[in-house]
Amino acid sequence: MTTKVPFSYCEINFGLLKNSSLSSIISNDYKNSRIIVFADENTYDLCLEYLFESCPIINHADVVVFPLGEENKIIEVAHQILDALSNFKLKRNDLIINLGGGIVTDMGGFISSIYKRGIKFINIPTTLLGMVDASIGGKTGINLGSYKNQIGSFIHPISIYIDSFFLKSLPQNEIINGYAEIIKHALISDAKSWFDLSNKLEKNIQPDNKLILKSITYKTSIVERDPLEMGLRKILNFGHTFGHAIEGFFVDKMNVSHGFCVCLGICAESYLSFKRGNISKDEYLQIENAINRIIDFIPFDKEAINEIYELMKQDKKNKGDQVLSCLLIKIGECQYDKDISEAEVMDAMYHLNLLAGTN
Ligand SMILES: NC(=O)c1ccc[n+]([C@@H]2O[C@H](COP(=O)([O-])OP(=O)(O)OC[C@H]3O[C@@H](n4cnc5c(N)ncnc54)[C@H](O)[C@@H]3O)[C@@H](O)[C@H]2O)c1
Repeated sequence: MTTKVPFSYCEINFGLLKNSSLSSIISNDYKNSRIIVFADENTYDLCLEYLFESCPIINHADVVVFPLGEENKIIEVAHQILDALSNFKLKRNDLIINLGGGIVTDMGGFISSIYKRGIKFINIPTTLLGMVDASIGGKTGINLGSYKNQIGSFIHPISIYIDSFFLKSLPQNEIINGYAEIIKHALISDAKSWFDLSNKLEKNIQPDNKLILKSITYKTSIVERDPLEMGLRKILNFGHTFGHAIEGFFVDKMNVSHGFCVCLGICAESYLSFKRGNISKDEYLQIENAINRIIDFIPFDKEAINEIYELMKQDKKNKGDQVLSCLLIKIGECQYDKDISEAEVMDAMYHLNLLAGTN
């Protein structure tokens, strides 16, 4: 059984790949096309065989392997891959399949959107974060130095196949990373979802198909109403003003994941929501404690905090000199484009630093 998630921009299938429409799409629409699978070093080893077994019609596909890590989500690597596509003599009626986490779907989607002014692609997310967030919604992107996703496009794949089989090989820390976006979706959409989820959060939490489907459905409902992020969709950036700046700060220093940084960002932005009186201290502490149960907070010195603030000032969501962030106005509801001051950023970052002592 596969479930089709209602979404007007592309088909989203949730269920076993072998029972999905993938094989029939290929045999009907891409019978004479060349197929390229984009993978990374891990999904090449751990996910490709299952894809080929589930959909034997594509086992003649060529595979391009991306180097691992956020530091490789850059124009230089994209350029090498575009050269490889050109060497394959890929045509506009050929097809790309992105098999991987958010890095593969972000960069693979971006490359697909610019190669020969756009070639069709399919997303098959293999991380929890990719399944509930990155593969869906039509945002593609690569980083520019320490600035996250500064180059990119809005483009949807022709279809997305979400098969939780892939999560069997996913390390536990990557499951936690995926929960960062599930936490975000719960906190900004529905107090009951957040309260239910917050009680379950712990370091060895397992993926939950119902929760995955709920998160996907929430994201598609927002994208449906504001596909190009002119307004409402900005709420999906909750946790990401701090999160992206922290991730950018670490990108050339140490390996920290997107999900980990989003967890820190959710804490910081919830803390400011509490400081502004939007949520109570107890509500804030519930968020902080839940996140503290799944990640280990890390210290930030003064220099790091100043650098993170400088990165925040370059966030692409800002207007003029203002740093704009999302803040909760209550549990289950969020406002975007909230101007936050330098003093508030410092306060939140020093608070995160203090939390490192509570692990
Ligand atoms: N476009 C969007 O809307 C959007 C939304 C959220 C995040 N993102 C982007 O997504 C990226 C983070 O995505 P991510 O957390 O999936 O990171 P990722 O793509 O780096 O994957 C995390 C790790 O898991 C490995 N992996 C993937 N699938 C696996 C599997 N099935 N078994 C074992 N290992 C596997 C990968 O090789 C990698 O080492 C960031 O660059 C972020 O900016 C984009």
